[in-house]
Amino acid sequence: MNAPMMQGLELGTPSYVKNAKLIAWVADMVALCKPAAIHWCDGSKEEYDALCQQLVDAGTFKKLNPAKRPGSFLAWSDPSDVARVEDRTYICSEKKEDAGPTNNWAAPAEMRATLNSLFDGCMRGRTMYVVPFSMGPLGSNIAHIGIELSDSPYVAVNMRIMTRMGKAVYDVIGVNGDFVPCVHTVGAPLAAGEKDVSWPCNKTKYIVHYPETREIWSYGSGYGGNALLGKKCFALRIASTMGRDQGWLAEHMLILGVTNPQGKKYHVAAAFPSACGKTNFAMLIPPAGFDGWKVTTIGDDIAWIKPQADGTLRAINPEAGYFGVAPGTNTLTNPNCMASLDKDVIYTNVALTDDGDVWWEGMSDAPAHAIDWQGKEWTPQIAKETGAKAAHPNARFTVAATNNPALDSAWDDAAGVKIDAFLFGGRRSTTVPLVTEARNWTEGVYMAATMGSETTAAAFGQQGVVRRDPFAMLPFMGYNMSDYFQHWLNLGNKLTAAGAKQPKIFTTNWFRKGQDGKFIWPGYGENMRVLKWMIDRIEGQAAGVEHAFGISPNYEELNWTGLNFSKEQFTNVTSMDKAAWVAELKLHEELFTQLAYHLPVELTSAKAALEKRLAA
Ligand code: OXD
Ligand code: MN
Repeated sequence: MNAPMMQGLELGTPSYVKNAKLIAWVADMVALCKPAAIHWCDGSKEEYDALCQQLVDAGTFKKLNPAKRPGSFLAWSDPSDVARVEDRTYICSEKKEDAGPTNNWAAPAEMRATLNSLFDGCMRGRTMYVVPFSMGPLGSNIAHIGIELSDSPYVAVNMRIMTRMGKAVYDVIGVNGDFVPCVHTVGAPLAAGEKDVSWPCNKTKYIVHYPETREIWSYGSGYGGNALLGKKCFALRIASTMGRDQGWLAEHMLILGVTNPQGKKYHVAAAFPSACGKTNFAMLIPPAGFDGWKVTTIGDDIAWIKPQADGTLRAINPEAGYFGVAPGTNTLTNPNCMASLDKDVIYTNVALTDDGDVWWEGMSDAPAHAIDWQGKEWTPQIAKETGAKAAHPNARFTVAATNNPALDSAWDDAAGVKIDAFLFGGRRSTTVPLVTEARNWTEGVYMAATMGSETTAAAFGQQGVVRRDPFAMLPFMGYNMSDYFQHWLNLGNKLTAAGAKQPKIFTTNWFRKGQDGKFIWPGYGENMRVLKWMIDRIEGQAAGVEHAFGISPNYEELNWTGLNFSKEQFTNVTSMDKAAWVAELKLHEELFTQLAYHLPVELTSAKAALEKRLAA
């Protein structure tokens, strides 16, 4: 194959890259971004090691003490580049109403003009990495391919952990196969002889999606979901649009397997807003009283779910690794996660200890001294005096799924796993019971659509404000939210039309607080008690109590072995306060007013029925 020449730079297309659209696109992007070099990633271990060494030499990575954390590195970002930037995230559909009222929108032509000028020469002095990746098991009919062009080697190494990245992807797309083009730049071109900084980025940031042409353009950030474009940008925003058009679901859901002592296995897909413990739930260890039960992880953040001809739903985890929040993770909250983090991890924005290891708030007793995520001296005394955090509250680990001791044997199965139940969990200190089963699919969609979550400082700055987060998808929807509700309703009908039983839908709330302001429910591994009740409901083995919102358990229906949790405490996490619910429904009304365009009538009816039951 002839390597086209662009502005004096040889594309150097490897002989195994045969996809015409890809080669033409890379040539176009090289002409626009004007990198100094191109590196076609092959995904090999040798390449990963060399890029990590390059990052160490550039001062982006610190190699951690191999005796403490073999194969692991620490990166500290620019203090201005520490999280997803929702206010800079755009869905640029042709029509504004197709992006809907919950998304930032700009006309595609206008946005293209803005980005074309920002991207012009944006990679000067840098290498463009061509990162081929599969979201989902290679060749699975639920999986899809993306190619990310990025001028960040940090992105290239993270993508090797987070996705199935490498040469084999080119066999899947062949000469004519399709892929989602994702272009990313830190937006910090280097002039000749200019010394680089350890975390290049730009004050100006744009995270842009063109749903009709299925393209992603990301400018100015090197961090997480802004830069690792397979995750939120592709696997949720673009994929939700693909799912709408092709009849499947792209969801902000973990997937877990739960096996009972008789060996019967169930699969649950669960949506929680960011920073509500998805990774903990996905890696749950059953507590005392659950001998013989096993929970295994298929995914911790995203699920792609396809209806089958027989009306069942099969799901894959499109990712291959975890990009989890470190602070708060410890051997009590998530022992499996801590075990996953022993080796071969990229840490970002945690503290460096004097013995070359990492530390974050909530991990263990504080070290006497550390260097914090901003490279400053940190001691418990300094923290007390100034409030300085050793780790940024949104500090992360990037680790391969294969490090997880609780990894499900089917996690990489191209056919996916059959979903038996959906779970939607908000974070509410009042009002919403510990667990409620929807009486039918529409009621479940209503519960998911009206889900609310109190914001955490880590994720959104201001603490304790209830933000409606339908399906935990608010920041991740690629199209109009009300059309998405309709898509869910249509899918439910399709399953019954195919003769299948729809999966049950539950909503949970681990976060009710008592008068003392403390969480009442112990959470973490103890959530197994609730999970088991859900399975009992699937098997018809628990009657539950019906109330205005749905069906919740009787105290006696939960297995309490090994946990001291009184009937009174149980009442405090399951009670339905009428006045609080009347106020809650006003908030549902506000949401429905905001989403009035294309809001399915079934949901307005579900709300009216709920109001009627409350008034009765
Ligand atoms: C995440 C998030 O990083 O939801 O998974 O913000
Ligand atoms: Mn997430």
